[in-house]
Amino acid sequence: MTRVLGIETSCDETSAAVLEGSGDDVSLRSLVILSQDVHRIFGGVVPEIASRAHLTAIVPVVERALQESGDQPIDAVAVTNAPGLVGALLVGVSFAKALAFARHVPVIGVHHMEGHLFATALEHRDAVPPFTALLVSGGHTMLLDVEAWGRYRLLGRTRDDAAGEAFDKVAKLLGLPYPGGPHVERLASQRASGDGRFRFARPMVRRDQAPTDPDFYDVSFSGLKTAVLNAVKSTVDVEAERASIAGAFQDALIETLVEKTTRAARQFGRGRVVLGGGVACNATLVRAMRERFEPRGVQVFAPSARLATDNAAMIARAGLFHLERGEQSSLDLNAFASQPIPGLVAA
Ligand code: KG4
Ligand code: ZN
Repeated sequence: MTRVLGIETSCDETSAAVLEGSGDDVSLRSLVILSQDVHRIFGGVVPEIASRAHLTAIVPVVERALQESGDQPIDAVAVTNAPGLVGALLVGVSFAKALAFARHVPVIGVHHMEGHLFATALEHRDAVPPFTALLVSGGHTMLLDVEAWGRYRLLGRTRDDAAGEAFDKVAKLLGLPYPGGPHVERLASQRASGDGRFRFARPMVRRDQAPTDPDFYDVSFSGLKTAVLNAVKSTVDVEAERASIAGAFQDALIETLVEKTTRAARQFGRGRVVLGGGVACNATLVRAMRERFEPRGVQVFAPSARLATDNAAMIARAGLFHLERGEQSSLDLNAFASQPIPGLVAA
């Protein structure tokens, strides 16, 4: 059994967690997540402020996670070192290296998106490979075929805005606070049933696409955002139409994601779909996935909100996987704004 301390500081959450176990048989001993509310004032994450807030929070957050787990010795430290805001990542990476050095334990750098792939398995025993994965967050949108842990086929990604980014930008257009996803979802749910006053095109979804086409799995949401902008501009009483517009936007985005995920699951014959990232908090998305897949005998797994958004538990879990394969990082581990997910196999 290995006990791993995970640390996550890639964006605007300072998080630490202690996890112990081996293979897929793990248990989470503690998870502390401190969300940096300060960015709400600015309507988006301000990198310099994020780094400073991580610096202030990192010691108490890690101490608390260690305490809550019973203050037992740890065997390794796993830390997100890519992708993300470099200044923010560096706080976690520097801290993790120093702690690992002081405690004479290995440090392992973890790719943030690989962490998201493992998050759902912390709550659902069956959310393990092989599965089709859809990761939808504020910074990324990735469709992957996961043959085994550590073997990832990247099928599709966004050509422009990430799904969460599209939610956040549309929220801004509709005068809603940041981060906008939950607000857009709430507003969309207030739309009267059968209200079809707005309908936006489903981006990159056409019947004539074939798996060999580069846009078969890719998505693009910037055109959808422009369509929302045009709808807002051409509407006289925006206040009265906000719920209709939010609902039509969410319909188009969700239908696109469901369609692309269906293509991937069908192509690789997978019986499980695993969702991850902040947008997986969207209950309408999860319901639409279940409605599509369950009649086909395909199980859909979504993490709880706490594990869907950025957290250190998923980093500890991905770190454990690499440690068990005999991998570890050296003390010159660095932070990178972007980096391909490890374990990619040819698509
Ligand atoms: O994974 P995450 O916490 O951070 C990143 O790694 O980006 O995702 C944050 C994103 C934000 O864009 C937020 O608006 C979106 O997740 N989000 C949602 C919902 N809850 C959070 N989007 C749609 N519906 C939601 N209920
Ligand atoms: Zn994330």
